[in-house]
Amino acid sequence: MAQEYSKIQWFPGHMAKARRKIEESISKVDLVLELCDARIPRSSRNPMLRSMLRSKPRLLLLNKSDLADPVQTARWLSYFESKRVSALAIDAKSGKNIKKILPGAREILSERIAAWENRGMVGRSIRIMVVGIPNVGKSALINALCRGSGIGKAEVRDQPGVTRENRWFTIGKGFDLLDTPGVLWHKFDDPRQGEALAFTGAVNDEIIDTYELALHLLKKLLILAPGKLTDRYKLSQEELSLSEEALLETIALRRGMLASGAAADTERCALMLLDEFRGGKIGQITLEQVEE
Ligand code: G4P
Repeated sequence: MAQEYSKIQWFPGHMAKARRKIEESISKVDLVLELCDARIPRSSRNPMLRSMLRSKPRLLLLNKSDLADPVQTARWLSYFESKRVSALAIDAKSGKNIKKILPGAREILSERIAAWENRGMVGRSIRIMVVGIPNVGKSALINALCRGSGIGKAEVRDQPGVTRENRWFTIGKGFDLLDTPGVLWHKFDDPRQGEALAFTGAVNDEIIDTYELALHLLKKLLILAPGKLTDRYKLSQEELSLSEEALLETIALRRGMLASGAAADTERCALMLLDEFRGGKIGQITLEQVEE
């Protein structure tokens, strides 16, 4: 049975509400930090953000770069540079490259800052906010930015449509960060993008068939990273040519995952495979290539 990735899409009412909220917040800031997932830089972005930004500058952050293939990440960064999109690869969890964000923002805004200074607004604070789809690391980034400025752990709420008064955290010298991130919705035209989101855990597993998803992930890994798969699951070269179903069974047996009657527990193995991929245990793997 083919997966119904349309179930991942948000309802129009939620989208309209989220859009209104984000546009309202964008109007209060000088620059937007747009987060995407370095493993799926295409599918984890919402192209509608561009129209919401209007002329507002943005810095694109490829988060979870610790889980992505560094060679592919470098390719993506060159690609974005060629499209004149300022981008940085970061890891909000460990804090890698977080220190480069504020100088990067200042550089993007250099002309505006000069214009403010000409108008006598010397030392005006730069206001920024974070936007991205669910689970991309918005709260982790806000916390990392706050930690970097000595605020400690920020309490971040991340629910679309929740209205409350905005607070600003002063981070770094001359930067104010909006406490509430803009929650974008998943937007994909191609079911393969829906699948990519599901592989990374960006959507709730309860709405998808995880066994089928794991088979598709295996198929993808056999193409993208067969060596990492053999290393992790002690597979032989011959086993790599098995069907995905048989391969999952082999992995289950090798891990001692047995169901009743000593058959391989492939349902449990499917969840384990997805978990291990998402946690980076199979290795640093980028699912979307620039060239695709
Ligand atoms: P959101 O606000 O955009 O919804 O995302 P959030 O920060 O809650 O992050 C979602 C998950 O992704 C969290 O894992 C978080 O730790 C993880 N994460 C965020 N940034 C990075 C990163 O750069 N690298 C890695 N490897 N993981 C990252 P979780 O399992 O939901 O929670 P926990 O592990 O923090 O307990």
